[in-house]
This record gives sequence, structure tokens and C-alpha cells, in this order.
Amino acid sequence: MTKATDERIITGVLADSEEQATELSLRPKYLREYIGQSKATDNLGIFMKAAKSRGESLDHVLLHGPPGLGKTTLAMIVANEMGVEIKSTSGPVIEKSGDLAALLTGLQEGDVLFIDEIHRMAPAIEEILYPAMEDYQLDILIGQGPAARSIKLDLPRFTLVGATTRAGMITAPLRARFGINLHLDFYGEEHLREIILRSAKILNVPIDLAGATEIARRSRGTPRVANRLLRRVRDIAEVLHSGEIDAPVAADALDRMEVDKFGLDEVDRKMLTTIIEKFEGGPVGVSTISAAIQEEKDAIEEMYEPYLIQIGFLNRTPRGRIVTRAAYQHLGFPFRVNEKIMLAEQNRLFS
Ligand code: ADE
Repeated sequence: MTKATDERIITGVLADSEEQATELSLRPKYLREYIGQSKATDNLGIFMKAAKSRGESLDHVLLHGPPGLGKTTLAMIVANEMGVEIKSTSGPVIEKSGDLAALLTGLQEGDVLFIDEIHRMAPAIEEILYPAMEDYQLDILIGQGPAARSIKLDLPRFTLVGATTRAGMITAPLRARFGINLHLDFYGEEHLREIILRSAKILNVPIDLAGATEIARRSRGTPRVANRLLRRVRDIAEVLHSGEIDAPVAADALDRMEVDKFGLDEVDRKMLTTIIEKFEGGPVGVSTISAAIQEEKDAIEEMYEPYLIQIGFLNRTPRGRIVTRAAYQHLGFPFRVNEKIMLAEQNRLFS
């Protein structure tokens, strides 16, 4: 089975260290440099200003939304704006309660502890977070059996920033302990174009408005994808063209990478085509899709599917996924009325 395909040009996952290095240099450091997501950032700005003026630490922040939209960037911005340090980890990386205890006891007053993929934290470790978040207390058990003792340590007033691609998978007690809850949504074309122009300026890449628009359209609403496509388009522009990115150069480069007009790549097309050809357009369960296209179920649910749903190519129903008429048209399949759906709908209406 292909692992959450790091080599895939349009994944929301960072690939190699060269990419991580440039990605870091492109990350905005302050809220005023951050483009888009105003629903989340306007409020965040107000809450930070209020906390700062009262001389308090910021309340705990939960960030949710698809990968590559800037959750890590926002956590770093919180630390910069509040003038504190940030320590970063990720849910699945914390194996023992001692790992988390070490992180917590190493924090200074006001510091940010960033936990990515917080929904993947082990339940026993998650429970340590509850008193830490609520009362800034660390309860740890030392030893085992009858000799075991519980000790309590006071922690500094820190800010936990948790990020997740699966808001629905956060347990209720954990969710309840976040005072600030922010959702990030896919970016529109104009904001993506602005991000591409900003990145091109930092990377010293000559690009015009139409070139940036062409890349923005095919970036599946995701800045990380936009920045990655920009770097690859620059390569093709330098080697095969004059080096400048205009609309025809961008279109040529993106066509060469098989990133289509909607930003879909081979995996997206394979998924939709398989549902159409093997499952009559659905409804079909994610596990069945996963087995049929040899991609991990989590990757389908977290990376591929949210964008396909957002652009109206896929519907999620209790009985499984259904490919829409728009997707049939885009992929060049004749649309057929799905008898299974019609029957289910009739039964629902007349029962
Ligand atoms: N780079 C990645 N995401 C960004 C954003 N939202 N604003 C500015 N630059 C970015």
C-alpha cells in the first residue's frame, strides 16, 4: 500500500528537507503577514491583544482543518506575537507519559506547547493533559503496584495549541478544555494568488499576475500545495522557457506534472474513476475504496476526500461515498442515473 504518498506533488504533507527549509522561509511570522482565513485570524488577533494587555497567557487554542492550510504556521505566529517560546511535538510521537511530562516541565510562563495531530494521542497520555490544561498541574504516577505514588507538580501558565485534521475525532473532555476553537478552510483563488506572489518575491522568482492565477487555480485551495507547485513550475520555466512564469508557461508546467484544471492529480482521478467504473458511482465505503486504489484509509479521509467534497466532485453519505455529476463530466464519463441511490431515496420518501 502506498504510504501517505510523500512524493505526490499535491499532497498536504511536507516531502524532503529542501522543501522544509524553503517552506520555513516562506512562513509568515506575524499575523499581519498572514493572508486569508480572516474568520479565524481576526478573532485570534483580538484574543491575543486582550491577553497581552492583561499580561496573561493566551487561552488554549484548537486549530482544525485539512492539511497544508497553515495550522503550524499559526501556532508559530501565536508564539511570536505573544513574545514567547514554542515547543513542538505531535500526538503519535508522544509514547510515554514521561515524554509529555518532560515537555510540560520544560515550559516557561506563557510559552506555547504545539501538539500536531492531537487526535492521535494515546488516551492515557491525553488524560495527563486535562489537569495540565485546566489547573496547570501535572499529576504523575511514580512506581507501580502498591508502592505507586502520585505526585503533583505546579506548571507555568502555558498555552497549548493543538492542531487536527479530524475535529470529529477529538474526545469531548479534551475539546472542552480549549478556550479558543478555530477552523481553517480551503483558500479561495485570490488569497492563493496573493500567497504565490508573496512567495515568488521571497524566492526571487519572476512571475506575472496571470501566471500566479494559473498556479492558484490548480493548488486545491492549499498554500503548501501552491508553494510546492510554484517551485516546480519555476524549475520547468528555467529549463524549458525563459525563466519567467506567465500563464502559458505555468499551464505548460502544470500539464506536464499532470495537475489538471481543478488541481486533481493521478490519485484523485484514480479514486473517482474507480468509484465510477467499479462501483457504479457509489455509494461505496472508504475501506472498499482504500483496498481498490491501494491508498491508506486515513490518507483518503484526511487528504484526498476533503478537497473533492469541497469542489463538489464527491458526496459523503451514511451509506458511503458518491461521485457527483460534475465529476463524471470533468472526467469525460457519460452520467448515468444511479439506480441504487434512486431506490434508496424512494424507500426513504415512501416508507
Ligand atoms: N504561506 C503559507 N500560508 C500562508 C498564508 N496564509 N499567508 C501568507 N503566506 C503563507
